[in-house]
Amino acid sequence: MPGISRRNALILGGTGIAGIAVGGTGFFVNQGFSSSSVLGTASGSALLEPTELRSADGVLNVDLEASPQRVTIAGRDVNALSYNGGVPGPTLRVRAGDTLSVSLKNGLADPSNLHVHGLHVSPEDNSDNMFVTVEAGDSFDYQYELPADHPPGVYWYHPHLHGFVADQVFGGLYGAIIVEDPEPIPADRERLLVISDITLNSSGNIPAASPMDEMSGREGDLVLVNGQLAPDMTARPGERERWRIVNASVSRYLRLRLDGQQLTLLGIDSGRFETAQDIDEVVLAPGNRADLLVTSSAGTSTLRALSYDRGSAGGMMGGGSFRSGDEVALATLTVAGDGVAAQQAIPSQPAQRDLRTATVNARRELVFAMGMGGGMGGGMMTPTINGRQFDASRIDTTVQFDSVEEWLLTNTSTLDHPLHLHVWPMQIIEQDGQPVDSLLWQDVVNIPARSTTRVRIAFEDYSGKTVYHCHILDHEDNGMMGIINAS
Ligand code: C2O
Ligand code: CU
Ligand code: CU
Repeated sequence: MPGISRRNALILGGTGIAGIAVGGTGFFVNQGFSSSSVLGTASGSALLEPTELRSADGVLNVDLEASPQRVTIAGRDVNALSYNGGVPGPTLRVRAGDTLSVSLKNGLADPSNLHVHGLHVSPEDNSDNMFVTVEAGDSFDYQYELPADHPPGVYWYHPHLHGFVADQVFGGLYGAIIVEDPEPIPADRERLLVISDITLNSSGNIPAASPMDEMSGREGDLVLVNGQLAPDMTARPGERERWRIVNASVSRYLRLRLDGQQLTLLGIDSGRFETAQDIDEVVLAPGNRADLLVTSSAGTSTLRALSYDRGSAGGMMGGGSFRSGDEVALATLTVAGDGVAAQQAIPSQPAQRDLRTATVNARRELVFAMGMGGGMGGGMMTPTINGRQFDASRIDTTVQFDSVEEWLLTNTSTLDHPLHLHVWPMQIIEQDGQPVDSLLWQDVVNIPARSTTRVRIAFEDYSGKTVYHCHILDHEDNGMMGIINAS
C-alpha cells in the first residue's frame, strides 16, 4: 500500500487533493495547482530557458557572479542563490577545441568556487581545480581549454567547496554547459531542461537541512524545470525536438517518462551512443544528464518523474523515509496543429571506445558505507569511502598516468550512492555481478544499495589531483569524497 509522504501531505494540505493514484506504484503528485493553492504557486506558463552565451572564434568569456538574489521560482518571490540573477544560471555553449574563460565573482556570504561537471579538462592551476577557494567578496579567473576531440554532450557547472556544496546547489547555483555536436543532429527545435528541487517556507526562504535530511540526502518539496513549476511546451505533430536534460537535484533521482511521445536517447552524460536508442524511460541520478530526441505525436503528454526507490538511511533514528518515492508531474507537452514533414535520419556516430578489451594496469575497490559515529553525531550515520571521511590533506588514490584501471564499487549501505569521478569518464562493465553487454560511459555511476558495480577508467590526457565523490551532495559535504592523483 503506497503511503503518501508527509512532504506531499504538506504540499497538498488544505487544497483540493491534486494527486491521483496510478498503477499502485505511488502517488502522482500534480504540482500544477490552481491559484488558490496554499503555496500560491504559478504554473502552466510557457517553459522559459536561461540566457545563452555562445563561443565565437573558439573563445567564450563569461562573467559569472554568485550572489543571494530575490528571484522568481515556481511563480513565487524567493530568497535564493543565483548566478547572474537567474535560476538556473546562463547556459554556456561551446565547441570542442574552445577556450572557456569564466571570471567568478563570489558575492555570497560564504566561500565558494566553480566546477565544470563532466568536462574533460585539466584539474590543475586555474582549470577545473577542486582545491581553489574563492572567499566571500573575492573573484577568481578560471580558464578551461577543451581538447579538439572533446565529446559533445550536456554538462553543467556548480559550486564545489567541500561543506558548502549541497546548500549552494539547493539554493539555486547551477547552470548548463553544452558542447555542440561536430555534425549537427537534425531537429526542429532544441530545449534545455534543468531539473532541480527546492523547499520554500511561507516567507519565501529556503529552510536549512536537518541532520536527517543530510543523512538521507535532502529532497525538495517542489521539483522545478528551469526554475519553473510545471511549465508548458507546445509542438506540432511530427516535429523532432532535441531535449537536453540535467539532473541538478542535490539528492533526487529522476526516473523520467513522457508517455505518448517517441523518445530516442543520443547519450547519457558525455558522448554519443553509436546508434541512438529508443527508450520508454530514463533514470538520471543526481548529476547525470540525458541528450534526448522527442518525436511528437498529437495529444497532450506529461513529463513525469516516476517513483524511484533509492533506499533509506536507517540508523538509530529508525527508518529514515522512503526517498524519491513520489511521482511528480514536471511539465506538459501539447502537440497540436498541422503535421510537419519528418526530419532526416539521425546520423550514426563514431564507435565509442571499449575498455573491456584493454590491458588493466591496476585493480582497486572502493567501498561505500554508512558508518556509525563520526562527525554527524546524534545517532546519525556517517557516509564513508573505504571507511574514511574526506580529508583535504590526504591523497586516497594514486594512479599511474596513461593507464587503465578497473574499480570495483561496493555499496554496503541501504541507500544508493551515485559515484562521480572528475575529469575521466567511467565505462560500466559489470552491474551486480552481471557483465554489461553494451557500451556504457558515464561520469556519474549509480551504485544501488547493497550491490556492486565494476567500471574501467583510462587516466589519460590530463594528470593531476582531483576528486571522486557521491553526488548526493549532502553525502559529499559529510565526507563521502576522496582525492585522486594521476601522475
Ligand atoms: Cu557535479 Cu564533483 O561534481
Ligand atoms: Cu563533477
Ligand atoms: Cu551517497
